[in-house]
Amino acid sequence: MKITTLSALEVLDSRGRPTLSVTATLEDGRSVHAGVPSGASTGSREAVELRDGDPGRYGGAGVSRAVGHVNGEIADALVGADFGRLEDVDSRLIKLDGTPTKSRLGANATVGVSMALARAFAVEAGVPLWRSLTPMGVEPARPGALCFNVLNGGVHAPNSLDFQEFMITPLGAPSVAEAVRAGAEVYAALKRRLAGKGFVTSVGDEGGFAPDIARPEDVLAELVEAISDAGYVPSRDGVAIALDPAASEFYRDGSYVVAGERLTSDDMIARYAEIIERFPVWSLEDGLAEGDWDGWARLTAALGERVQLVGDDVLVTNPAIISEAISKGIANAALIKLNQIGTVTETLEAMRLCREAGWHQMVSHRSGETPDAFIADLAVASACGQIKSGAPARGERVAKYARLTEIEATEPGLPYRRP
Ligand code: PGA
Ligand code: ZN
Repeated sequence: MKITTLSALEVLDSRGRPTLSVTATLEDGRSVHAGVPSGASTGSREAVELRDGDPGRYGGAGVSRAVGHVNGEIADALVGADFGRLEDVDSRLIKLDGTPTKSRLGANATVGVSMALARAFAVEAGVPLWRSLTPMGVEPARPGALCFNVLNGGVHAPNSLDFQEFMITPLGAPSVAEAVRAGAEVYAALKRRLAGKGFVTSVGDEGGFAPDIARPEDVLAELVEAISDAGYVPSRDGVAIALDPAASEFYRDGSYVVAGERLTSDDMIARYAEIIERFPVWSLEDGLAEGDWDGWARLTAALGERVQLVGDDVLVTNPAIISEAISKGIANAALIKLNQIGTVTETLEAMRLCREAGWHQMVSHRSGETPDAFIADLAVASACGQIKSGAPARGERVAKYARLTEIEATEPGLPYRRP
């Protein structure tokens, strides 16, 4: 596969901050694109998102240097070269950057190029992206766990709620289309409930409502009611709940600060144990902070049999960190975000390590998104069974659910995989 042009533009993400849009042209004139996502509650060991730091443009958040790297050095290295596989493109990018964290070229530059070229391989082969991304030995599948973030807190919303994400997962839905329907119906029921109680129904960065409720248990009680209001059963066989407290964000001076209370790691573990008893929570992401590996080991020992424990900030889609966590019994599943590691190949490697260790994987968007639905294809290709892409509302979020619906409609024979 050869590309004849490669270029990037500085465009806005869903939060109104600059990001990259990457375009490549194939020899037959067809073009492929990729939009680069961007996080707000980032893990400290993520690959580096290169920002200009020029306070005169976008308050320093411009990405013109990363754009310049795509249009200059990266285009010089890739245009006209003949690549047999995406791995060859990605190893070229990794070598060209030359740093362990992609800090020179910027992981926002490399991931955009890697995603665009993954599409170029698919276009050239005349197959959908998901088919082209499917690793050897894996049977692609429609994900049976769509995690809709219906209520936002933490750094994604200006309310007093410390936990970042309250997601509903219609685990009992028989198809992607029915899961989307359940997600949207519960979202609408939740809006009615919140409005009826006098809360504002404005939304946070991922499209979930952002009422001023401080205690996570109070939010969970509303969610359970909303699930019932919409005519579903709040349970692991009906509509279940997934949490991403994003605990690194409320970990201060060795304590977790939740609704004004200071808690130890063990207090948090006990709190989660109670939450799991009372509410149909099936998945808990970043329940403890990224630096609290001792706490994570105790959390995994205490709750790992009862609930999926997903590492996001603590693992950052990094194959080396995931290997270490697997060997130390930290978490039992990984969140998968392409821009945390900076190439598609390394992302697939992270997923392979999880699969081989019997760990689940949840493919994820970022809080800053574009209309690019790459992650929908990635979830199908990897057969991981799980994806989170925010609320069942707002263009940049529903683009991913719509792509899954489209894949299901065109490939009804694909297996439907529940975690
Ligand atoms: P982020 O949040 O994209 O702001 O990092 C998503 C998450 O924590 O899962
Ligand atoms: Zn997270």
